[in-house]
This record gives sequence, structure tokens and C-alpha cells, in this order.
Amino acid sequence: MTNMSNQAASTTGGQAPVIWDLPTRLFHWILVALFISSFLTAQAGGNWMEWHFRSGYAILTLIAFRIVWGFAGGRYARFRSFLFGPGRILAYLRGAPDAPAGPGHNPVGALSVFAMLLFIGAQAVLGLFANDDIASEGPLAASVSKRTSDYLTGLHIANEPILIGLIGLHIVAIVWYRIFRRRNLVVPMITGRDSQAPPDAISSRDDARLRLAALAIVVIIAIGVWLLVR
Ligand code: HEM
Ligand code: HEM
Repeated sequence: MTNMSNQAASTTGGQAPVIWDLPTRLFHWILVALFISSFLTAQAGGNWMEWHFRSGYAILTLIAFRIVWGFAGGRYARFRSFLFGPGRILAYLRGAPDAPAGPGHNPVGALSVFAMLLFIGAQAVLGLFANDDIASEGPLAASVSKRTSDYLTGLHIANEPILIGLIGLHIVAIVWYRIFRRRNLVVPMITGRDSQAPPDAISSRDDARLRLAALAIVVIIAIGVWLLVR
């Protein structure tokens, strides 16, 4: 593939640089919708568990896609671009008030992104082995002993407050940036472009070929998930 380094043209025609490619934005907003539906269907129980499972399979597909996209996606979607060592994280925390408002995830935001991907992904995988002692069990529950399935169900339930905490923190951080740093992070996650990025910030790729590659990756992963759970 050409230009996989995503060093593509800087700001295009005076427009703000692209920070989040379309696949990353779709990933985010579909994940939000599915995450909410996973919680609602779990609370509703009964026949809604069928939809809880489907929503979980879709989340599993999304998280697997995001992991691949962390290596193959646009410049700022790549893990490499927001993989910071403890030194950088501490420096950012110490210098936070006047740290440059660079585009992409900052060193602390990056930590929360990795944590969310990890714990949401784990939740979906645990669900595959879970049972509710009544009528519903994940498609892989029968492949382990009842004791193991019960244990993994316990983890699936114990993970619930962790997820709520991580996402609560995520939303508080976004509001905090808006109020105290006067940074609007939400618009870039909708339009892709960050008008508050430094003027010399490099644009991410977000062309038709990159988007098609994302679609192909999602289709392949979705088929894999379907084969796993059918
Ligand atoms: C990231 C995706 C998922 C989220 C956020 C999620 C969340 C939840 C929540 C909040 C509960 C209620 C726990 C409680 O009773 O307090 C639950 C229960 C349950 N989930 Fe999930 N879940 C996900 C994926 C899955 C998947 C993929 C499956 C199976 C294919 C699954 C199977 C179950 C089962 C069987 C229960 C009932 C456990 C019980 O009542 O003892 N979940 N889930
Ligand atoms: C269930 C709720 C949510 C989940 C699971 C979630 C998850 C995530 C994840 C995984 C990322 C990292 C994106 C990536 O690099 O792939 C992210 C980033 C982001 N999310 Fe959310 N999110 C949720 C709710 C929201 C809401 C309600 C908003 C807006 C009001 C929001 C705004 C953002 C923004 C602006 C970013 C980019 C942050 C940055 O610039 O570094 N999220 N979110």
C-alpha cells in the first residue's frame, strides 16, 4: 500500500487538519450507541438478552477492528502515535496547564483510551462464556464447565462498575477540557477536523482507499465473529 506512513499533505487549502479518519469516527459513535444498548438490554433481561448478545457481538467486532486500525489506520488513530512512556505521562501531568494543545490523544487521554478498549473488549469476550442461570448463555458457555462459566459471569458482572467508572471519567475529561482548557474535542470526533490544532499539524489520511480498507477489515472480522458465535 502506498503512503502507509500517513505523512500525507499538511493542512489542505487552509482547512483545519484531519485528526480522526472517518472509520475512527464511525467506530466511536457506533460503539457509544451499542454500549448503551448493551446496558439497556442487560437491565431489561428476558427476551432482550438475545439483543444483548447481538449488541455484544457487534462490540466485539468493533474492538477487534479498532485493534487492527491501531496499526493500519490514519496517522492519529495509530497506537504508535499515542503510545507514551511513564516519563512523558508524568511530564504532561506536571506541565499540563501550558502543555501544547497538540492534535490526537494526549498522554493521559491515551491511557484512558487503552483502558476503555481493554475493558470493553474483555467484557464482550467474558460475555461469550457467561450464563444467567435461567435461559440465556453465551455461545461459548457450553465449551467450558459450569463452574468456569459462573466464574466468568461473575467477572462480566464485576466489570460493570469499572466500565461505568472509565466512561464517566472519559466524559468528565471531555467536559473539563471544554471548560478549563477551552478545547472542544467533540467537534473533531464528529467532523474529523480540529480547528484548534497547531497550524503546522500534519493531516491524517482519510481518503477513499483508506476507508475501503477499513470496510474490508470490518467485513473480515465480522465474518470471523459470526463463525465463532453462530
Ligand atoms: C461489551 C459488551 C457487553 C456489555 C457492556 C455487557 C454488559 C452487561 C451487563 C451490564 C450485564 C448485567 C449484569 C448485572 O446483572 O448487573 C450483563 C449481563 C449478562 N451478559 Fe453482558 N455485556 C456485554 C456483552 C455480552 C455478550 C457478548 C454476551 C454473550 C454472548 C453477554 C452475556 C450476558 C449474560 C448471559 C448476562 C447475564 C448474567 C447474569 O444475569 O447472571 N454479554 N452484561
Ligand atoms: C458509552 C460511551 C462512550 C464510550 C465507550 C467511548 C469510547 C471512546 C474511545 C474508545 C475513544 C478512543 C477513540 C479512538 O482512538 O479510537 C474515545 C474518544 C473520544 N470520545 Fe468517547 N466514548 C463514549 C462516550 C462519549 C461521549 C458521550 C462523547 C462526547 C460527548 C465522547 C467524545 C469523545 C471524544 C471527543 C474523543 C476523542 C478524545 C480526544 O480527543 O483524545 N465519547 N471514546
